[in-house]
Amino acid sequence: MSSAYVIHADFYQTDREGMALEMPSSYLLVRDGRVVSLTTSRPDVSDATFLDWSGLLVIPGLTDLHVHASQYQFRGLWMDEELLEWLNAHTFPEEAKYKEISYASQAYRIFTDDLLHSATTRAAIFATIHEDSTLLLARYLEEAGIAAYVGKVNMDRNSVPELTEDSEASVMSTLSFIEKMKDFKNVKPIITPRFIPSCSDWLLDELACIAKERGLPVQSHLSENQSEGEWVHSLCPESVSYADAYRRHGLWGGVPTIMAHCVYSMEAEPGLMRNEDIFVAHCPDSNTNLSSGIAPARWFLENGVNMGLGSDVAGGTTLSILRAITDAVKVSKLRWRLVDQRFRPLSFREAFHIASRGGGAFFGGVGGFDEGMEADLVALDDSVRKTAIKDLSLEERLERHAYLAPEEPVTHKMVKGRLLF
Ligand code: GUN
Ligand code: FE
Repeated sequence: MSSAYVIHADFYQTDREGMALEMPSSYLLVRDGRVVSLTTSRPDVSDATFLDWSGLLVIPGLTDLHVHASQYQFRGLWMDEELLEWLNAHTFPEEAKYKEISYASQAYRIFTDDLLHSATTRAAIFATIHEDSTLLLARYLEEAGIAAYVGKVNMDRNSVPELTEDSEASVMSTLSFIEKMKDFKNVKPIITPRFIPSCSDWLLDELACIAKERGLPVQSHLSENQSEGEWVHSLCPESVSYADAYRRHGLWGGVPTIMAHCVYSMEAEPGLMRNEDIFVAHCPDSNTNLSSGIAPARWFLENGVNMGLGSDVAGGTTLSILRAITDAVKVSKLRWRLVDQRFRPLSFREAFHIASRGGGAFFGGVGGFDEGMEADLVALDDSVRKTAIKDLSLEERLERHAYLAPEEPVTHKMVKGRLLF
C-alpha cells in the first residue's frame, strides 16, 4: 500500500558525523516508509497527506538497545542491592510469573502501551524463558507498530528452580519461538543467552550455532559488575576475560551482537571491543541504581566501538531514552571528575547522537532524516514546561525538554513511515 506524508514542523537531528542539523519550520516528505526529502519549502506533491505539526519539535525516533519487558512491572522498586543479590531476590522471582499467560498478558500490555507513547521507535528486548508469553509480547509490539527485536531468554543454570530450563528444552523452545516469529514484519527474534552465569557451556555453543546458521542477531550482558566478573572468571577459568568467555563459545560477532553495560571492558577486554559486529548498550541509569559503576562511553567513542543507549528497565527506572541521554551526560561528568580525567564528558549532542544514530545502526541504519532512511520519528511538545526565553535553538529546546520532561508522552509517532498516532 502506497503512503506519503508531508510533515511541517521544527526538525532536529545530528548528521553522520554527529554535527547538529537544525531545520526550523521545514517539510519532511515521507513516501512508502522512507524519507524522501527535508526542505525549507513545501514540496510540490499532490498525493501526500499533509500533517501540520507547526511548532512541535520533531526528532528521529530513538533506540532502546537494552530493555527487559518482563521487569517493567517493578520499575522504581527494590533498588538497594547490587546486581547478583537483586537478580536472586527480586528479578528471577518476578520473571518466573511469566509462566502464567494471564500475568504476562496484563504486564506486557502495560509495557507495550508505555513504550508506544515514549520517544522510542526501535528496541532490543529481553522477555523471559517462557516461549508462549514471549510470543505474546512480540504480538503486542507488532500490533502497536513498534520495530523491535524480542528475545526468548535462555537460562539453564544458577537461577531459582522455577526460572531454570532443561538445556535441551531451552534449545527446542528457542527454535520453536523463531519458527513462530517467521511471519512477523516489524518484530524479529534475537538469540538471548541471559549472561554467562545463566547458561551452560553446551547451551552457549548451541545458541551460537543457531544464530550463525540462521543469521540471527544476539543480545546478552557483559562486564556489568565486579562480583559478576569474578564469578564468570571462576566459571570459565580458561578465558582471559568475560568477553573471551563469549568468544570461546562462538558468541562474539559474526552476527550483529548487543552487549549490555561493558562497565569494566576498558580494563579487561580493550582489544576485543573493536569488533564491528558488537554494539555496546550503555545503560547509565541501571549502572547507577545497581551501583555497578560508570561505563567508559568516551573511550568507546574514541575507539570506534558501536554504541547505543539502553534503559535496562528495571535496573533502570524508566523507558525514557531522553532520560538515558541526560543520564549518560551526567555519569560521564562524574567519571571524568572522579575517576579518569583523560576522558572528557559527553556533550548533550553526543549523547543524543548515540541514542539516535548510534543505536539505530543496529537496525540497519535509522536515527536520522537522510534520504532513503526508514522514516522513524517522534514529535515532542516542548511547550509543556514554560519559559520566557524566546530565542532558543532547536538543540536547546530538545536539551531542555530532555532534562525537564523526559517522560512526557510524545505527541505523534511514525515508524517505518507508518503513522502510529
Ligand atoms: N545480568 C543478567 N541478567 C540481568 C538483568 O536482568 N539485568 C541486569 N541489569 N543485568 C543482568
Ligand atoms: Fe539488562
